[in-house]
Amino acid sequence: MSLWATKSIAALRAEADATGERSLKRTLSALNLTMLGIGAIIGAGIFVLTGLAAALHAGPAVPLSFVVAAIACGFAGLCYAEMASAVPVAGSAYTYSYATMGEFVAWIIGWDLVLEYAMGAATVGVGWSGYLVSLLDYLGIHLPTAITSAPLRFCSAADVTNAVTACAHAGWNPTGSLVNLPAMVIVLLATAILVVGIEESAKVNNLIVILKIAVVVMFVIFGVRYINVGNWHPFIPPNTGTFGQFGWSGVFRGAGLIFFAYIGFDAVSTAAQEARNPQKDMPVGILGSLFICTVLYILVSLTLTGLVKYDELNVAHPVAYAVEHVQQLNWLTPFITIGAVLGLGSVVLVMLLGQSRVFYSMSRDGLIGPWAGKVHPRFRTPYLSTIYVGLIVAVVTGTFPIQILGELVNIGTLLAFVLVCAGVWILRGKRPDLERPFRTPLVPLVPILGILSCFGLMATLPGDTWLRLLVWLLIGFVIYFSYGRKHSVLQREREEG
Ligand code: ALA
Repeated sequence: MSLWATKSIAALRAEADATGERSLKRTLSALNLTMLGIGAIIGAGIFVLTGLAAALHAGPAVPLSFVVAAIACGFAGLCYAEMASAVPVAGSAYTYSYATMGEFVAWIIGWDLVLEYAMGAATVGVGWSGYLVSLLDYLGIHLPTAITSAPLRFCSAADVTNAVTACAHAGWNPTGSLVNLPAMVIVLLATAILVVGIEESAKVNNLIVILKIAVVVMFVIFGVRYINVGNWHPFIPPNTGTFGQFGWSGVFRGAGLIFFAYIGFDAVSTAAQEARNPQKDMPVGILGSLFICTVLYILVSLTLTGLVKYDELNVAHPVAYAVEHVQQLNWLTPFITIGAVLGLGSVVLVMLLGQSRVFYSMSRDGLIGPWAGKVHPRFRTPYLSTIYVGLIVAVVTGTFPIQILGELVNIGTLLAFVLVCAGVWILRGKRPDLERPFRTPLVPLVPILGILSCFGLMATLPGDTWLRLLVWLLIGFVIYFSYGRKHSVLQREREEG
């Protein structure tokens, strides 16, 4: 049995076109897909992490960090668009690697995508909880911290030296809180919506995306006239002597962090099997949502650092903080907070959607149990996969702090991007004849630049995060060799000849 056996593209396409009790409903248009992308993209990255990136790494030059991360995502996005149009099947990067690099790589990537989607949903759940607490505070309702923050905190040796709260020793420390209950609630709510149906999910998503864009645009339009250009000087503050803190190294370190803000354009591709016309519409959805968000992010981060001096932005709600800071903009506070609560909620929704679809595809291939491939007879959604994922993500989001989750998400996602870029290049060599409604320009240059730039961003992440990635992949190997390999549909077909 070969680890490198590939699934044929014809079989993948036939599977996607099949109708029957295990098939998904094809209802999404190009606009729906673009909205789905924006729904997944604008979230905790811009609403929470921008402030941190400005205050700690890039200073007012944080828009440059957004440009750097956008370039890496652009290369990856072009590759995703080709793959999603050539292999329009649910499962995204997992399916593409099955068709190009074989079952073992596909398994690695499917397992790795759990870091992106499930952990991504958990990360944004924590960010959502933070904005909900501030919204409730605004309304005069104060929730006790015992039920609104993680019971665990991961402390570095430096945190212990600096006597950071709850850091008695390096490693995991109890914080005194019990659970992050609001984070769990949003994850369970999103799960319930996803079980009921993809059409309903897309409708809820469209509404929220419009609100989310409106809030972001309002921030820029009303904020721009109160910008104090003095706050932009010096645009790139000098390096403090520490790598990654201001100067150009800070711009790159900031890019590694706010890369999180772009994650999600690829989630569009997980819905390929639910798109009406995937070959034309997938590239529009992926590249369109990426482009719109890049423009918005640059404008928002310029406005943010123009309204408030960058060194004040290390707060949990930087965008809300900025409008509170300028008296004439105070009226925007409830809009921003409500926009963030709804907006982050929709990110959780799309991330969970992506995760259940990846498991659905892996289950149909026999690599994980048949439960994940079960489609609800009435709702036509992979309901068991959705429910189990939702329950596990709820536990994770209720327990772990945002920075640990976020770093894992970034490294896992970047690895997936690297493999998709490599996949485009390989498939061009192996199957030059394949119909590609969208072709990545300048192959192999663009895939190579994608691979290099994503590796570059991975290199900015801390060693602990690399270690967690390795442990996660090792667990995946154990599952693959003890279960997946033995139950693989492809391997069985090959044996039967
Ligand atoms: N890009 C998504 C966010 O920023 C994951 O929340």
